[in-house]
Amino acid sequence: MAITAYRSSILHFLSETQTEYFDDGILVVDSENGTIQQVGPAETLLPQLAQVDVIEYENKLIMPGFIDTHIHYPQVDVIASYGEQLLDWLNNYTFPTELQFKDPEFASETANFFLNELLKNGTTSALVFGSVHKESVQAFFEASHQRNTRMICGKVMMDRNAPQDLCDTPDSSFEDSQALINEWHEKGRQLYAITPRFAITSTREQLEKAGELLKNNPTAYMQTHLSENKDEIAFVSELFPERSSYLDVYDHYGLLGPRSVFAHCVHLDETDYRRLAETQSSASFCPTSNLFLGSGLFSLEDTQKYNVPVSIATDVGGGTSFSMLQTLNEAYKICQLRDYSLAPQKAFYMATLGNAKTLQLEDKIGNFESGKEADFIVIDFDSTPLMSRKQSRCKTLDEVLFSLMMLGDDRAIGETYVAGKSVYKK
Ligand code: GUN
Ligand code: ZN
Repeated sequence: MAITAYRSSILHFLSETQTEYFDDGILVVDSENGTIQQVGPAETLLPQLAQVDVIEYENKLIMPGFIDTHIHYPQVDVIASYGEQLLDWLNNYTFPTELQFKDPEFASETANFFLNELLKNGTTSALVFGSVHKESVQAFFEASHQRNTRMICGKVMMDRNAPQDLCDTPDSSFEDSQALINEWHEKGRQLYAITPRFAITSTREQLEKAGELLKNNPTAYMQTHLSENKDEIAFVSELFPERSSYLDVYDHYGLLGPRSVFAHCVHLDETDYRRLAETQSSASFCPTSNLFLGSGLFSLEDTQKYNVPVSIATDVGGGTSFSMLQTLNEAYKICQLRDYSLAPQKAFYMATLGNAKTLQLEDKIGNFESGKEADFIVIDFDSTPLMSRKQSRCKTLDEVLFSLMMLGDDRAIGETYVAGKSVYKK
């Protein structure tokens, strides 16, 4: 058996309230099958590892790879598009850009750039929107499968309120999605998400097809957008006057459940929160996007109050950074504006095991329990002079983590490992 051991400070979470931290720790990886063998203090583990290669990292911190629960790979080039809120931003910037993804070569080049960017930022798994074109998702899965990254992706279903060339039909979206599920769902580390873009761009017939897909493929995921922007919400109630709320549109078509991820959830009422909790559907908090598009202030406190499963995500290209550290930074500030303090250990729990749980993947990724997939990152505390200076003055783990999330970005990621293999080194 090929074993590699990594010696460093090590942090991971056993649950939302249980942190395991080793100041001088060892992570033992079965590098042949890419899984974690064990983790513990160097003092205890070193004697058993006499024959094993030990890679030592100084002034570094090993933690599980970050997980991003909402991101659009065709929007790499949409980042930093000036001056609009959601609906105009979609029409003026996003839809024109997504038209390019009919070209498999362009899709493949962008998918590779996108995956490199994720890994450079320490993100090893993500729930990803493709474009409406099945070619875009084909290209994405090929690129991810080659890297052996655990990714969830889906072809966008949209058949109205968008340019003609960006619209499919209820039947074609049903067939293309099912064909992609047959080819890619659970192939290696790839997983499929049924992806109606949002209620505005789908007819009733298409939402019905999405529900049918979910029923026929119970291990697949469902991802969409919900209650992000006030004008969007008003448009949804015009389009679906027969439904009691935006969430009720999705509910009516059978799209709620523990494998369903609703991005944004900025403007929900008590009934919505209760229904999400009841169905164990999850809300994905996208702080940089909500600020950039002026959408509003997500209430982390309310999701918790009502026991709604909640995760955190970048939402690139509405979001402005691939970095989960930057995302935690902006999440903290949004919570501050709501008189709630996002504690650093909770923030890093969310970005790792917490996000894994909302994706029903906590048996595979998110921490260093033995047998899990060995996706991990090496944090570099000397990434900038300011980070180095600030970290040297931190006295507690909370201070270390809080400084990391407030000052850190891609420069703080020293190395990224996917299934036990180094895939990015600064
Ligand atoms: N709602 C529907 N489509 C999108 C999208 O691409 N980005 C965001 N932020 N919201 C959406
Ligand atoms: Zn989005």
